[in-house]
Amino acid sequence: MGGFFITGTDTEIGKTMITAVLTKYYLDRGADIFPYKPVQSGAEWEGDKLTAPDTVFYERFAGREFGTETNTYLFKIPSSPHLAAALEGVKVESQPIVDQTEKLLNSHEHLLVEGAGGLIVPLNEEETMIDLIDRLSLPVILVARAGLGTINHTVLSVMALKQRNIKIAGIVLNQVTPDELPEIEEDNRKMLEKLSDVPVIGTFPYIKGQEFEKLDVGEILENWNINILEEAMQHESRKAY
Ligand SMILES: Nc1ncnc2c1ncn2[C@@H]1O[C@H](COP(=O)(O)OP(=O)(O)OP(=O)(O)O)[C@@H](O)[C@H]1O
Ligand SMILES: [Mg+2]
Repeated sequence: MGGFFITGTDTEIGKTMITAVLTKYYLDRGADIFPYKPVQSGAEWEGDKLTAPDTVFYERFAGREFGTETNTYLFKIPSSPHLAAALEGVKVESQPIVDQTEKLLNSHEHLLVEGAGGLIVPLNEEETMIDLIDRLSLPVILVARAGLGTINHTVLSVMALKQRNIKIAGIVLNQVTPDELPEIEEDNRKMLEKLSDVPVIGTFPYIKGQEFEKLDVGEILENWNINILEEAMQHESRKAY
């Protein structure tokens, strides 16, 4: 049915965190939502099975397993997909990802597709992440840092998406670092909405001690404009975007 592509202004910005948070939020409300990480670099061996750290995080966070359909490409080397693939003698193709996305959209109520890195990360020699997003026709949730330095990266990412006519559902601000000045974060939020003309869905707080499993996601998301996502999800056809 409905889905979102979770991209970010950078690598390590909190895409996995926000994908896990939204997955748990909707699962707790009885919805059938599936987190899909098509290309994972930095995969790790667990026994005789190569596992995706981002998927392991979703599962740990949501307290459930998502089975074998969570990834299409797994690479050992923690680098850009095109390089990780090349070093393993493989080429990442967008078609199997498009096919898997369609399959998952048909078998789940909601789908979250997490990108790798930011928008202009190469998937292969010809395509970058933004080309894949374009092919998938899913509205985007853009994860950005809440604090200092976010305006430039976030507005540039929005400009790139708008240039391609890709629908942006909204921005999620993530407190990736502790002790940012609240004045800066408040101003960032205001300036981002003004400069990008894209709504901020909400801010996710910095979590000390990484006690992610104990979080009350419902309480944190109480202040979010979650209706922005609900409205985007209710669109009957992705072509509407
Ligand atoms: N709000 C937060 N509070 C505390 N730690 C956080 C927060 N958000 C993210 N982190 C930590 O920052 C690191 C990067 O986050 P995350 O893995 O979600 O980034 P990513 O954008 O998915 O990275 P990648 O590009 O590798 O997929 C992780 O160790 C995560 O636990
Ligand atoms: Mg990730």
